[in-house]
Amino acid sequence: MYAIRGATTLSSDEPAVVREAVKELLYAIMRENSLSQEEIVCILFSSTSDIHSLYPAKAAREAGFVLPALYSSEEPAFEGALPLCIRVMFLVEGEKKGKFVYLRGAKRLRRDLSSRLTIALDGPAGSGKSTIAKKLASHYGILYLDTGAMYRACALWCMRKGIDLHDEAAVAEAIAEIPLTVSLGEGQITLLEGEDVSSAIRTSEVAAGASLVATYAFVRGKMVEMQRKIASEQSCVLDGRDIGTTVLPNADFKFFVTASSEVRARRRLSDLGKLGQKADFESVKKSIEERDFQDAHRKVSPLKMAEDAILIDTSGQTVEETLLTIHGKIQEKI
Ligand code: DC
Repeated sequence: MYAIRGATTLSSDEPAVVREAVKELLYAIMRENSLSQEEIVCILFSSTSDIHSLYPAKAAREAGFVLPALYSSEEPAFEGALPLCIRVMFLVEGEKKGKFVYLRGAKRLRRDLSSRLTIALDGPAGSGKSTIAKKLASHYGILYLDTGAMYRACALWCMRKGIDLHDEAAVAEAIAEIPLTVSLGEGQITLLEGEDVSSAIRTSEVAAGASLVATYAFVRGKMVEMQRKIASEQSCVLDGRDIGTTVLPNADFKFFVTASSEVRARRRLSDLGKLGQKADFESVKKSIEERDFQDAHRKVSPLKMAEDAILIDTSGQTVEETLLTIHGKIQEKI
């Protein structure tokens, strides 16, 4: 069983208005979730205490909802509550992720769901930002773009062509026509000339190469352009080093995720282990610190916290704890 939430507001407390609003909300939830009445176990309503003219459950029966169990309750009044508001929860058979629906004035209750949302997550290697970004994107049902994978693909492309990565002009020439595409669905697939290189870009050599080619203005210009295009088309979470400062300076939310280099090295070591790659703690830590230095000291868009970003130190935290903090910050603002 899974739950679908929704809410709407009324223009006035009159039976015809309640009837119309309930019908509009329920039909929108059914449509958005491709539901049939047979699948719905029950529909629970709560309405604010300023609604007296009609129970939403009665309005739902009148709108043709004859199969599911229906229930209405009244919410206690509290200061600052959204007036004339009806909230609903569907309990539905099956195992899916429901699409929540917030209409009219209730949109402001969940602005994250009802309007375009952009989240920028920046931070150094191994800070945990990609794990967090993926979970945030899945929670809000929006797209996740790993921008680091794009710089890694640039490095791999040049390495495969035998180009000296220190030769900026040669790298720029190779990147001018790079056949790089990212397929964004359930997870990100990074493609070079149509070949899936998602695993090939995860080696330490490619990581070091990416950090180097990412210092070149031409490479950055090209990648930033691609990233902005993707982000302009939909709600998304982007992670990288310069998202809050350069790629999406107007992002709705900006977080700078960090952790001590020891913690980050331990995490990277475990990631490499999962990919079947051997490495020792000291060398992983050293390469992380070298990358930090290179990323933070390059001339173009260095790794830097945006002035309006929220700092999140994940050193002593589990992923779930970090997510709670971030969700809290997002909910505070919307
Ligand atoms: O996040 P990552 O380790 O996959 O990133 C690889 C390199 O790419 C990293 O050393 C810095 C660079 N990078 C960048 O300069 N800007 C970004 N937005 C993302 C990554």
